[in-house]
Amino acid sequence: MWLLVLLVAPSLALQTLEPPPPAPASRQTPVERWLPVRLNQFMASDTRTFQMRFYYNGEFAGNNIVIFVGGEWAISPGWTTGGLGYEMAEELGAGLFYTEHRYYGRTRPFENTEVDNLKFLTIDQGLADLAQFIQYVKSDDFEEGRYKNGKVVLVGCSYAGTMATWMRLVYPHLVDAAFSDSGPLHAQEDFPEYLEVINTAIKEQGSEACLSSIEEAIKEVVDLLAEPTGPAQVSEMFKTCTTIQPTPLDMATFFWYGITETFAYLVQYATPGDIPKACAVITDPAVSSPVQRLANWITSQPWTQPCIESRYTQVLADHRNTSFDSDDAVMRLWTYQTCVEFGWYQTTTSDNQPFLSAVPLEYFHQMCKDFFSASFDEENLRRGIRRTNLMFGGLTHMPDRVISVAGGHDPWSPMGPNASHGHSKSPVIVVPGVSHCRAVQATGTSNTTELEAAKQAVLNFMYENVVGPLPPVAAAATGVGAELVLLVTLLAVLV
Ligand SMILES: *[C@@H]1O[C@H](CO)[C@@H](O)[C@H](O)[C@H]1NC(C)=O
Ligand SMILES: *[C@@H]1O[C@H](CO)[C@@H](O)[C@H](O)[C@H]1NC(C)=O
Ligand SMILES: *[C@@H]1O[C@H](CO)[C@@H](O)[C@H](O)[C@H]1NC(C)=O
Repeated sequence: MWLLVLLVAPSLALQTLEPPPPAPASRQTPVERWLPVRLNQFMASDTRTFQMRFYYNGEFAGNNIVIFVGGEWAISPGWTTGGLGYEMAEELGAGLFYTEHRYYGRTRPFENTEVDNLKFLTIDQGLADLAQFIQYVKSDDFEEGRYKNGKVVLVGCSYAGTMATWMRLVYPHLVDAAFSDSGPLHAQEDFPEYLEVINTAIKEQGSEACLSSIEEAIKEVVDLLAEPTGPAQVSEMFKTCTTIQPTPLDMATFFWYGITETFAYLVQYATPGDIPKACAVITDPAVSSPVQRLANWITSQPWTQPCIESRYTQVLADHRNTSFDSDDAVMRLWTYQTCVEFGWYQTTTSDNQPFLSAVPLEYFHQMCKDFFSASFDEENLRRGIRRTNLMFGGLTHMPDRVISVAGGHDPWSPMGPNASHGHSKSPVIVVPGVSHCRAVQATGTSNTTELEAAKQAVLNFMYENVVGPLPPVAAAATGVGAELVLLVTLLAVLV
């Protein structure tokens, strides 16, 4: 399933995938349900609705509510049967829900994704859907009102972490506490920091030699592409679908889809050992040419199969397909969100990265106009970004009762909170060396003790915000359970 997602959606570092669902800890089968929600959440007189999908697991249900928030992906039942949200539901005696974001997965407000139909695809609408969802779960219409007086906790990673944080900001009367793993909070047009973190991660987990080999290879590829027979050579080495045309848009397409995205996958989803393994191929002493070594690694990755697309016109054709079932539908939808409210373009405009200037900001400007229409220009983009940071405060204000985790080697981390943004009501835990969305995974599966401690701190934070002060160690004997003793001990260490 995970691999399949990678194979059918080869260009996703601009966004994220559903975090890989954890191994199921529950034998309970969650149920799939639907709720009609308002199409336009901001105009009461507009009575149109669409069906929003969610999963529900009532295994631990007392009267509290844990919602695992869905982001720009199709939801699957896995996150209601395992992972940190599942453990949290057990700890809090909560019903566990997993909501699907409008326009993604099966939650489709329209027949297709024609640009006119996308105007209701905004984070404001998505947050308001969650507000309507919470109101519904707490009403008599859901399980005879069993959740009426419960507390509500949101859990999200990546863009869904952003949503969890902003739900607490915008709807504090509906959300008691939130956990954001790797959620970006600051919208920004050019996002060169993304590749800078990739640079750091390769340097620290791989080697300096690996970085210089990549840079040398890119330099040679750029030189080759300027020579008459070079494009054919490069195309053969990197297995592009057709021979690269050395125009700016096609070269940017080759570098973006073929090279920087491949490294984005490596680093954004890395577990220990992944980067050293890649670097072993990239610095293989048995192969003398740096370009050949880079090509050997690139072409061995599942997401460059069966070939790398370097034709910008083909990229356009694929992303202009307005079917919800097209292979690039998710990428079309997420690109729309970046073009109207976030930016976050992972360009090569920094000097602290090995890809020279292969992917300029203009490439993304062009995409916005070509995917949607000429009016999605830079002015529109900048207006949208300014508005997002105005409405939600970016990194200038952290709402209370939110706990955030940032991965030290997560390329998204520069757009999210770090230790300097945290405060006593809203701690931010930075976990060294860790990639994207690792802290929402189950306890006991962490690759480092710091990551494990972060997960425990999140569980403790939720307990304190929903149930009350952590019980003293002695309480364990009266039935609170051995895990809590461990939690208390770990908290003492953290504080
Ligand atoms: C768009 O995608 C759908 C679903 O994959 C496909 O059936 C259709 O042929 C595509 N349309 C075009 C014009 O390529
Ligand atoms: C935290 O983020 C801010 C940007 O919001 C940055 O200026 C600062 O250097 C970061 N601090 C650390 C310790 O990374
Ligand atoms: C990291 O943790 C994952 C999840 O438990 C595990 O599958 C993987 O083998 C671990 N990797 C290392 C190098 O410990």
